[in-house]
Amino acid sequence: MFKVLVTGGAGFIGSHTADLLIKKGYEVRVLDSLTPPVHPHKERPAYLTEDVELIVGDVRNRNDMEKALQGVKAVFHLAAYQDYLTDFSKFALVNEGGTALLYEIIVDRCLPVEKVVLGSSQAVYGEGKYQCSEHGVQNPPMRPLKQLEAGNWEVKCPSCGEQMKPLPTDESTVNPHNQYAVSKYAQELYALTLGKRHDIPTVALRYSITQGPRQSIHNAYSGLLRSSVVRLLNNLAPVIYEDGQQLRDYVYVGDVAQANLLALEKGTADFEVLNVGGEKPLTVLEYVGMLLKLCGADMKPEIPGQFRFGDMRHVFSDISRIEAVLGWRPVTSPKEAAQRYVAWAQSQPEIEDSYAGAATTMKRLGVLRVVER
Ligand SMILES: NC(=O)c1ccc[n+]([C@@H]2O[C@H](COP(=O)([O-])OP(=O)(O)OC[C@H]3O[C@@H](n4cnc5c(N)ncnc54)[C@H](O)[C@@H]3O)[C@@H](O)[C@H]2O)c1
Repeated sequence: MFKVLVTGGAGFIGSHTADLLIKKGYEVRVLDSLTPPVHPHKERPAYLTEDVELIVGDVRNRNDMEKALQGVKAVFHLAAYQDYLTDFSKFALVNEGGTALLYEIIVDRCLPVEKVVLGSSQAVYGEGKYQCSEHGVQNPPMRPLKQLEAGNWEVKCPSCGEQMKPLPTDESTVNPHNQYAVSKYAQELYALTLGKRHDIPTVALRYSITQGPRQSIHNAYSGLLRSSVVRLLNNLAPVIYEDGQQLRDYVYVGDVAQANLLALEKGTADFEVLNVGGEKPLTVLEYVGMLLKLCGADMKPEIPGQFRFGDMRHVFSDISRIEAVLGWRPVTSPKEAAQRYVAWAQSQPEIEDSYAGAATTMKRLGVLRVVER
């Protein structure tokens, strides 16, 4: 079997993908900068199997990338800057810059790379797809700040202002609403355009909220499962933004790794963009209710009337295309995924609640806002 490079392979999805590749007999090399908050001690994580060759380096650095690409036939490009903060240029430099550099080196050096699988995100859809009873299917813009400050959460039709019904979002229309989403879409554009132009088979997979063991417990800025479980393990109630009626779909990390493997091994997805998501959407309240039961916690979530400016109201992916193209469907339920995460989180030595610190930073930067009553 040949050698595969996984950028960001010391992280959550990358390490599960590396495990599966090794199980299937591939040689795996990881390029990862071991950056905080995922790697607070900047050390090789214990979960990264010994069979993985780790190069500590940055996807923005030409020397690191050239070294990492030597002798590989396929690349999973998963390293990314993900956060909710206002350092906009960092999203462009890491996510877009790293992707452009990857193709630049492959082309410059005529490297025999036969497949690139890019880890993209459902975030590219922004508010996703809705149905207005009067005006049909809509891909609405971000909800106005004034509306959110009034605690009026639902998405309105851009033509008549009526509340709309959320629909499963397919791959056809993107509508990025924040710096992370813009950078993920830009990564797709670089990858698919340069891949086609230079005959490097490329697949972009848009993951929904991915869950399971190894999802960093140190990053409080995103991840409902992570932030809620860390609070619960500190005997604190999970905090819910808006009113908790937001719809989301959740997918298990092992199922995502399986989709990655299929994209590598089958040619049917080449130059395609495919959603990798869960079976059915749940509201945030339903999801947190399930977590409270799983953890045996006799408490209610806190709903303090806060919102993150730039968050989507409802978004959940239509996964019919990836089933048709790659024969993939998720096999692990959100409950099983959460159970595995809770068991893993309980075994971690440092479970400090970082919510308060993260909330203060997000408030200072104008990301986390309060309803004006
Ligand atoms: N986790 C999710 O729910 C989710 C959802 C949609 C898309 N994605 C995408 O999937 C990919 C993997 O996400 P994850 O959840 O495993 O994230 P993660 O933070 O657990 O892993 C990312 C890894 O990339 C490394 N990294 C960051 N910047 C780097 C740089 N400049 N150079 C080299 N390495 C760098 C980090 O050290 C980390 O180990 C990302 O591209 C992300 O945008 C994740």
